[in-house]
Amino acid sequence: MTSPAALAHPRFSLTEPLPVPAPGAGPAQLPRLLPRHGAVPVRLTDHLRAYGPVPYRGRSGHLIREAAAAGLTGRGGAAFPVHRKLAAVAGAPEPVVIGNGAEGEPASNKDKSLLWISPHLVLDGLQLAAEAVGSLTIGLYVHRNPRLLRHLQVALAERVDARADRAPVELIEAPSRFLAGEASSLASVVTGGAALPRLKDPRLSERGVAGRPTLVQNVETLAHLALIARYGAGWFRAVGTSAEPGSMLTTLYQASGRADVTEAALGTPLADLLSLAGAGAVLVGGYHGAWLATPEAAGLRLSNATLRPAGAFVGAGVLAALPAGRCGLAETARVVRYLALESAGQCGPCFNGLPRMAAALSVLALPEGPRAARRGMGGRWPDRAAARADLERWTGLVEGRGACHHPDGTARLVRSALRVFAAEAGLHCRGQCTGTEARPFLPLPPEPAIDAADWS
Ligand SMILES: Cc1cc2nc3c(=O)[nH]c(=O)nc-3n(C[C@H](O)[C@H](O)[C@H](O)COP(=O)(O)O)c2cc1C
Ligand code: SF4
Repeated sequence: MTSPAALAHPRFSLTEPLPVPAPGAGPAQLPRLLPRHGAVPVRLTDHLRAYGPVPYRGRSGHLIREAAAAGLTGRGGAAFPVHRKLAAVAGAPEPVVIGNGAEGEPASNKDKSLLWISPHLVLDGLQLAAEAVGSLTIGLYVHRNPRLLRHLQVALAERVDARADRAPVELIEAPSRFLAGEASSLASVVTGGAALPRLKDPRLSERGVAGRPTLVQNVETLAHLALIARYGAGWFRAVGTSAEPGSMLTTLYQASGRADVTEAALGTPLADLLSLAGAGAVLVGGYHGAWLATPEAAGLRLSNATLRPAGAFVGAGVLAALPAGRCGLAETARVVRYLALESAGQCGPCFNGLPRMAAALSVLALPEGPRAARRGMGGRWPDRAAARADLERWTGLVEGRGACHHPDGTARLVRSALRVFAAEAGLHCRGQCTGTEARPFLPLPPEPAIDAADWS
């Protein structure tokens, strides 16, 4: 990354005066982040008319306190308190700030939608986070997509013309890999290396991009920060729960086949987001998330407080209602095969454990009767019961033993599948399957990239 030479003072080229929002005066209802979802991207002039100029603070402490009062947590999956990450980097020598828009999870579309429709909210948040930690080196790391990149270049050029930014923003393409958005992997790519997670400490807040203290925030987190800076913590807390305030973007897959990105208040009943009639099970939290039985999901909410006891968490907001005719074991087997191929192969338990889990799941998931299965296995009898027992054991063995959370997330998905689809697994062990529709439901890239060159 290049370091900006000088601080650019914000100045707006618009002739008419811009409204300066009063605290608490933000949109009373949702949506807050995607006001024109499904329609035209918001241009800078419209953005400035709606929200006013970027509310720079001129110093770091104020916005960090506001983020703490708002209770804003990261929307990239781990829900870590934002003020603690800002405070860890504030005042460090030459810090780097990166907006994470890699969105490596194939089932998630919320960051791409946000960057496409409301890029200036993200870019405002990026500038404000950089100001809060005293950084002039800013990057936006985005999913590799030529159209999206061009769109963001235009948005950045609009801001240069309007002199809206304190410091320039460098766009960095994320490799199309599941792990590319993991924060230490991101730091490696931005420094010029491969998209591989870091095996050891120190934390990125101490040594990240090019060895400099680094703040990485998800792009949705930054958009929320931009609104909190304008309308205040009280406004942010007007939706959500007291422990998990605010809203989040969710990517919803309905059993009907409809997929959509929707903003929802934390604490919203899952049944208000997904139509559960006709759902065989519900996937919560994406491919590092967990399956829930439909009646169980019907009583739960979009909040870690209610999901955690069920072994699930909101993650980056991917929710899927599996249609009743689909085999949950077959769906899980496809996803785990993908996740195994996406292992960076740096840690033994992940490198060896994930492919074994994927292979065992594919045996357990074999949908056809014993004769067809025997044919497929070259005459050998596929021992589904042994595969099931191996899976139970291996989920415990890989967990907590990788340098990153990839094996933990994969193990969580497999464990939840064994629990929620236990009756189906019993049928499979007898060579039967209730699935009536073999077409895959959960989205995956056409063919996982396994070539080493694809890591950069
Ligand atoms: C395997 C893995 C993949 C991840 N992929 C992404 C991603 O694509 N986008 C993202 O924002 N965060 C991703 N994360 C989380 C990041 O490591 C990091 O916590 C996050 O970007 C920080 O932003 P936040 O605190 O605003 O959520 C991933 C984490 C793991 C373990
Ligand atoms: S746990 Fe897996 S994905 Fe993570 S660094 Fe180790 S080998 Fe790579």
